[in-house]
Amino acid sequence: MSVHKSTIKRVTTHVVQAMKDQGEKIAMLTAYDYSMAKILDAAGIDILLVGDSASNVMAGHETTLPITLEQMIYHAASVVRAAKRSLVVVDLPFGSYQGNSQEALKSAIRIMKESGAHAVKLEGGAEIIESVARILSAGIPVMGHLGLTPQSIYKFGTYTVRAKQAAEAKKLLADAELLATTGCFSLVLEKIPAGLADKVAQTVTIPVIGIGAGAGVDGQVLVMQDMLGITQAFSPRFLRRYANLYNEINTAVQNYIADVKRADFPNREEQY
Ligand code: KIV
Repeated sequence: MSVHKSTIKRVTTHVVQAMKDQGEKIAMLTAYDYSMAKILDAAGIDILLVGDSASNVMAGHETTLPITLEQMIYHAASVVRAAKRSLVVVDLPFGSYQGNSQEALKSAIRIMKESGAHAVKLEGGAEIIESVARILSAGIPVMGHLGLTPQSIYKFGTYTVRAKQAAEAKKLLADAELLATTGCFSLVLEKIPAGLADKVAQTVTIPVIGIGAGAGVDGQVLVMQDMLGITQAFSPRFLRRYANLYNEINTAVQNYIADVKRADFPNREEQY
C-alpha cells in the first residue's frame, strides 16, 4: 500500500524512510509563506522545504548568502502554521553554522524552538560533520545537501553541474556515506550527473532527494516559484514548469487596472 495519501496524517522522518524502503518517490517543494504553504500542504506534498532560496525568490538577492537566521525563522514559522500534513525542513542560513559546532547547534535550536519546524538542512560533507553530529545529538533531525551547494557559490565560481570529474565524484560519494552513517535522515543532491546520483541513492540507505540529479534518486525537489512559472529568467535543463503563473498574474493585474481605470470595478453588486 502506498504511504502517500494513505493513512498517514503527518509525514515524519520515519515516513520518508518508509517511502524509500517501499520504493515510493518523495515529493518536496520549497515554501516560504503561509498562503502558498497551505495550498502545497493541502495538495499532498510530502516535504515543505523552507529553503534559503528565499533570499533569491522572496527578497530578490542575487545569492542565498545574505538571508539571516531571523529571516529564516520568520519564513519557517509562517510555513509551519500552514502545514497540517507535510514534514517541514528549514535551511540553516549561511554564517549560522560554519563557525563551529556549538554555534551550529545554537542556530538549529533557535529554528526548532522559534518556528516549530521538524528538521533542519545544512550544506556540506566532511567539513561540517562535527556540527551535524552535535545537532543530531540534541534530537534534531538533519537533512544533508551535497553537489551544488549555493552557499559556496563564490568558491565554485559558477552554478554549473558539480562532480563531473572523478575526484569530486569520489568525495561526494564519501560525504554522502558519512552524512548517512552520522545519522542524517535524508540527503539533497543538487545538479550532479544522474549516474552519480543514482549510485549515491543505491549506496546509502537514507532517502536521497534530487534537484537536477536525474530520476534514479528517491525523490525530487524544486523551488516553488520556478515550477509554477512565477520566475521567468531562470530556466535550467532540469526545471519542468507546471504552470505559467507569471502570465496568469500579469493578465489578472492588467484586467484589474483596466477595470479600475474605466470605473467598471466595483459595480453595484460589489458595494454596500
Ligand atoms: O534553498 C533551496 O531552495 C534548496 C533547494 C534548491 C534544495 O536548498
